[in-house]
Amino acid sequence: MKYSRILGTGSYLPKKIVTNEELTKTVDTTDEWIVSRTGIRARHVASEEETSSYMGYHAGLRALEAAKLSAKDIDMIIVATTTPDKGLPNTACLLQERLGITGIPAFDMTVACAGFVYALSVADQYIRTGMLKTILVVGVDVLTAVTNWEDRSTCVLFGDGAGAVILQAADKPGILSTHLHADGRQKDSLYIPTWLPGQRKENELPYISMDGRAVFRFAVKALEQVMEEALAANQMPQSAIDWLIPHQANLRIITALAEKLKLPLDKVVVTVDRHANTSAASVPLALDEAIRDGRIQRGQTLLLDAIGGGFVWGAAVIIY
Ligand code: UT7
Repeated sequence: MKYSRILGTGSYLPKKIVTNEELTKTVDTTDEWIVSRTGIRARHVASEEETSSYMGYHAGLRALEAAKLSAKDIDMIIVATTTPDKGLPNTACLLQERLGITGIPAFDMTVACAGFVYALSVADQYIRTGMLKTILVVGVDVLTAVTNWEDRSTCVLFGDGAGAVILQAADKPGILSTHLHADGRQKDSLYIPTWLPGQRKENELPYISMDGRAVFRFAVKALEQVMEEALAANQMPQSAIDWLIPHQANLRIITALAEKLKLPLDKVVVTVDRHANTSAASVPLALDEAIRDGRIQRGQTLLLDAIGGGFVWGAAVIIY
């Protein structure tokens, strides 16, 4: 039996940091409102140069370095992103070119904030079946580029960044299971209008739009259910989880999920306070941070969860 094991992780955050205090100068909001409703205190905002392929490349390089591999060892690149550099080529091709390698398959997956968990699941299938040995999986987004900075209900919520993992075939776990879901009926709760100029409706702004309360309600329920499903699939009690690495959208959602799992918050990796919601990058950024600072140790059991516009959501159980 083959498993895919996380060999190395890496991440990248844009240099520019925007605090809540700074946002109070441009929109009608307060640090107190943002912190009490979301837990967010600051976010990183990408420059023009810091595109998805640029940030994904730097996160990927760090993951390769941690895995003690070089780019030529990679058999496939999957990039989860909703904010590609271009309509085409896909971001994974641009990242491949930056890495100086050719020939291997490279593709994007557009699964909003759940993109990394989805991409991890796809990579896992290629490795489990023995088709490929080593895969670079990247989660990256530049949601601030599709944010209306005059809309206080969304502009305080998002940040930019990238996270990456190198998965490699191993005889021992590894990824134990992944669980993916979608419900397209919820398409109007969270969306970005088309960016195809020929299809844009008159007066439609190309910005992210969200019914915050609807997303909040759905997210708590869907994530609770998928985490229960993931534990049941592995016949694991909640106490078997060493670390919860949740999607970083709102500290209130994270706290509700930790309570449900009876996990103290010091067993939950939290970055939303400094990163805000980085979409497909949020889970791999949190994972990389907790691995690099020594909180997550080899052999520990991790539960990952994510949810995004679609709705799309999922979870993964991993022995690190
Ligand atoms: O990554 C995908 C997953 N995304 C999420 O999980 C996001 C889920 N949703 C949320 O995190 C929360 O719903 C929000 C943080 C977006 C909003 O929190 P809320 O407690 O649901 O607030 P609300 O939308 O119900 O708004 C409450 C009030 C409104 O005023 P009125 O109508 O009560 O007078 C808003 O206009 O807060 C107002 N408001 C603000 N006030 C100050 C909205 N944004 C702001 C703001 N500053 N930035």
